Formats: sequence, structure tokens, C-alpha cells
Amino acid sequence: MSRRGVLRGVGGYLPERRVANHALSTFLDTDDQWIRERTGIAERRIADPRQTTATLATLAARDALDHAGMAGSDIDLIVLATATPDHTFPATATKVQAALGAGGAAFDIQAVCSGFVYALATADDALVRGRARAALVIGAETFSRILDWGDRGTAVLFGDGAGAVVLEAVEVGEVTPATGPGVLSTYLRSDGRQHDLLYVDGGPSTTGQAGALRMLGNQVFKQAVERIAEAMERCVAQAGVAMGDVDLVVPHQANRRILDAVARRVGVAPDRIVTTLDLHGNTSAASIPLALAAARDQKRLGPDQLVLVEAMGGGLTWGAALIRT
Ligand SMILES: CC(C)(COP(=O)(O)OP(=O)(O)OC[C@H]1O[C@@H](n2cnc3c(N)ncnc32)[C@H](O)[C@@H]1OP(=O)(O)O)[C@@H](O)C(=O)NCCC(=O)NCCS
Repeated sequence: MSRRGVLRGVGGYLPERRVANHALSTFLDTDDQWIRERTGIAERRIADPRQTTATLATLAARDALDHAGMAGSDIDLIVLATATPDHTFPATATKVQAALGAGGAAFDIQAVCSGFVYALATADDALVRGRARAALVIGAETFSRILDWGDRGTAVLFGDGAGAVVLEAVEVGEVTPATGPGVLSTYLRSDGRQHDLLYVDGGPSTTGQAGALRMLGNQVFKQAVERIAEAMERCVAQAGVAMGDVDLVVPHQANRRILDAVARRVGVAPDRIVTTLDLHGNTSAASIPLALAAARDQKRLGPDQLVLVEAMGGGLTWGAALIRT
């Protein structure tokens, strides 16, 4: 017998306030055409000042729990990926735990845009080892609060949002790495030598301030294509399947041109890729579960499908996970 973390529900939440590209050109030297052509982004959502990362995370988690037909009290593990926590401590996950009436353990993970993949792998390990029965894996961000709104190279790219999935520990019997439901393989990597390509110029131990996001965009772009392709190929190979067997690729939504370049490199047809970044820009750790929720709403997420999620972000960090629904 072997135990797997099986996907039971997906959910998402986007703040009400929409900010279209043309609204940014009222105070930045940019325009809608440049942003659309270079990134694929049309608009982003900005959280209400009364909303925090925990607010967004809780709403996304409730959506995922509804989809799973479960209650907060069924959950005994929350792993929340965020680079924009409510407070330096305690973890934002503990606020969500209290709001949902969940038990067990709750903690945050920080791997920036790769955070959701890291959180998923961490939660899956706990389920497989029997440390938890049902986990919420959340990606939630309020990136609007760490942007330099005078920097056109970064301000146009990011937005706020949250997404979540419910994983449940299930005894799946005698299965090969590629058969049966659940998380089949995960692949996580980082390279701290590339810290300065994408970082925030503050923090509790340096400036005592939250700081603002800084990025060498074109260098990040080149790294992203290579790293993401590597993660996808390794993750699929670990499970013993071929890229052609994957039904749905759910990428971190950073830039349309990155998605296209990766798809060409690994040989994935465009109709197998879920793309939502036109609607909300780069929401960092939230973007994969938001895209999963969009796939659910578009009825693209069905039973017995091979779903490959992937991301790259600050650190640099990168990774992928292969899930059979
Ligand atoms: C940021 C990004 C869209 C810039 O596109 P690019 O084609 O690489 O553009 P460059 O950085 O080479 O800049 C080209 C020109 O556009 C300008 N530019 C940058 N942002 C602009 C904007 N919002 N509007 C108009 N012009 C802009 C630059 O100043 C530069 O002008 P110059 O030639 O006069 O110096 C692109 O590099 C990117 O998406 N990188 C990955 C970023 C990312 O996804 N990060 C998160 C990873 S999780």
C-alpha cells in the first residue's frame, strides 16, 4: 500500500479593484500596447486597503474547501506560500487557520513566485508520511504593497490575489509512480548566487522596512525559460511519463512570452497550457492555484488527468509538480 496526497479541491480569490494598463500610463511612461506585447498582461487586481494577504488567502481557501465539499475543521495542515506576509511574525497561515477553524499545524513558506510549488511539495511530504490527513496549500500575495510605483520596469507586471488547493491523504494501493491519483512527483531547486536578479531592498534584519521590489527583468527572463524547462522535464521524467502524456500545464503566470518560449522548448501544444495572466498579471505564489481555479471554472480540469505545475521566482528558485487528478 502506498499513500498519496490527492487533489480534492481548488479555489481562488481576486480583489474587486481592476487596474487596466491605460490607468498605469497616467503616472508612468508606459502604454497599453507595450505592456500587452511584452507581457500579455491587460489588467491587474489591487487589494482594498482593509484587505491583507490573510484576507485574500482565507477567501481562496474557502473556495477550495467548497469545491472539495469539506469544512475548515477537516483541515489539519495549512502551508501558505507568500512573500508579502501580514506581519514579520507570526505566520500568515496561523491567521487563516483561526479564520477557518482548522486544526493541526499552520506555517508560511517563502520561495517568492515558486512558493506554491514549494508549499505543495512540503504539504505532500507531510501527507505521505502520515503527519497530516488533509492539507490546504495556499499561495497569497499583496504585491501592490511592495512595488515601487515609479518604476515602469516592475510596476506594470504584478498584482494581488490568492489561490488554494485541498490535498487529502489517500491509500492508493499498489500503484506505479505514474498511475493512481495524487501528487506523482515534485522537483525543487534554487540558486542563491542569483539573489540580486530579483529581490526586495528591505527587511526586518537589514533596513527594518518592508522595502520595494527590484528586478533585472531581461536577465530574469532568460533564466526563467531555461530553469522552467529543466523543472518540467525532470519532474515528468521522475514519474516515468513523457511530456506528451501531460493533459494540462498550469504555469506560474509571469509573462506570456516566457510561457510561449517554454512551450516551444519542451514541446507542449498551446491548447494544453492554462493562461490567465492577462486578467491579473503576475500574482507571485498565488498564480498557479488561481490558474487551477480558472481551469476548474472553464471545465478544463477533469478526473484522471495529468496536470503539470511549474514556476520560477526570486532566489532564484524554481520547481515543478506533477499531479494526477
Ligand atoms: C520586464 C520585461 C517585460 C521587460 O521586457 P524586455 O523586452 O526584457 O525589455 P528591457 O528590459 O530589455 O527594456 C527594453 C526597453 O523598454 C523599456 N521599458 C521597461 N519597462 C517599460 C514599460 N513598462 N513601458 C515602456 N517601456 C518600458 C526599458 O526602459 C528599455 O528602454 P531603453 O531601451 O530605452 O533602455 C521582461 O524582461 C520580463 O518580463 N522579464 C521577466 C520578468 C518576470 O517575469 N519576473 C518575474 C519572474 S517570477
